[in-house]
Amino acid sequence: MEFKLTEEQIAVRDAARDFAQNVCKPGVIERDTNQTVPLEQLKQLGELGFMGMMVDPKYGGSGMDTISYALAMEEISKIDASVSVAMSVNNSLVCWGLETFGSEEQKQKFLVPLAKGEKVGAFCLSEPEAGSDATSQRTTAEDKGDYYLLNGTKNWITNGSTASTYLVIAQTDPEKGHRGINAFIVEKDMEGFVVGAKEDKLGIRGSDTHTLMFNDVKVPKENRIGEDGFGFKFAMKTLAGGRIGIASQALGIAAGAYELALAYSKEREAFGKTISNHQAIQFKLSKMALEIEAARLLVHKSAWHKDQGMDYNTSGAMAKLYASQVAMDTTVEAVQVHGGYGFVKEYHVERLMRDAKITQIYEGTSEIQNIVIARSILK
Ligand code: CAA
Repeated sequence: MEFKLTEEQIAVRDAARDFAQNVCKPGVIERDTNQTVPLEQLKQLGELGFMGMMVDPKYGGSGMDTISYALAMEEISKIDASVSVAMSVNNSLVCWGLETFGSEEQKQKFLVPLAKGEKVGAFCLSEPEAGSDATSQRTTAEDKGDYYLLNGTKNWITNGSTASTYLVIAQTDPEKGHRGINAFIVEKDMEGFVVGAKEDKLGIRGSDTHTLMFNDVKVPKENRIGEDGFGFKFAMKTLAGGRIGIASQALGIAAGAYELALAYSKEREAFGKTISNHQAIQFKLSKMALEIEAARLLVHKSAWHKDQGMDYNTSGAMAKLYASQVAMDTTVEAVQVHGGYGFVKEYHVERLMRDAKITQIYEGTSEIQNIVIARSILK
């Protein structure tokens, strides 16, 4: 068993750390306050090769492994989870889905600009009544011969207005249950496609989250991904890898809050000594460090499973479930260590606490991760 990172992985981690400190940190509080989408940061991420990290270079990607991706996600999430969620959706869901299941024509036309970071992608599964219960899709795609007619509404879509390529899950035959669902590539300029209202959120406020409407959108048949009826499995397989990305994000949020709390505890004095010399604070720091390390082991093990071609459905769910709980617990404690300062924006930890919550909700709630794990151990 080898726990050591390779030189390449260390170089990726350090590049991501520099990027987070120098490009993401300036203005992060203002972007959070004003809900400003980090467009410049996403552009520079693309130039770094971080928008298609795991994509084969022949399709414009960087050809890196999943561990490198997890390391980069962790570093960027320490500073700005609004940047890292856009990166995660583009890498794990859109690029991976297209590279793994798309036709050669789809890869050339859609994957290459996404992997190069010239365009941004979105993954559209959730609906007003189909978040966890993903088979209950109300969006329909009617087969009209050489095209599908797409109608419906998608909710809470990450990169909703920034994206120009959308992977949309829709029902084509309700009689067939999950086998009557397909995935389609929709382009922003298709007639009848409307980017709706932007959500005003508790956390990841720089991430642009929108409702999307499809009104008689004609989607060419060649934009369907995979065989007829493959859409639900496409979504499940794609989300399984996406959970490694969100687990890395949760880990980064936790580690970012912990690093701030640790540094603050060595500066702040109370009762004649720094608060790091008080056992009450030491116990908090020790618990944070332990849980973050355990979360990191789960995240890296799942990423390693994926790199080895092994099954990562269960390990990804475990990593996401645990890391998101650690993100929540650690950020709450980091605010506590900061006392009154923790409650104001300038000290960053209150933002990380708000950002942490979404990691227990998107790409499958904690309850869904428990279902995935329970099914795996009981089968
Ligand atoms: N890989 C491959 N196939 C899978 C699979 C997986 N991970 N999970 C399920 N399947 C297959 C099953 O094998 C089954 O196929 P067969 O009938 O051929 O055997 C089929 O899919 C149906 O499976 P289930 O009966 O298990 O389906 P279910 O309705 O009980 O649902 C679920 C299972 C795990 C609860 C699933 O609905 C789920 O994961 N829900 C959560 C969806 C989700 O994560 N939503 C988040 C939205 S995206 C997002 O948040 C992105 C963002 O913006 C950041």
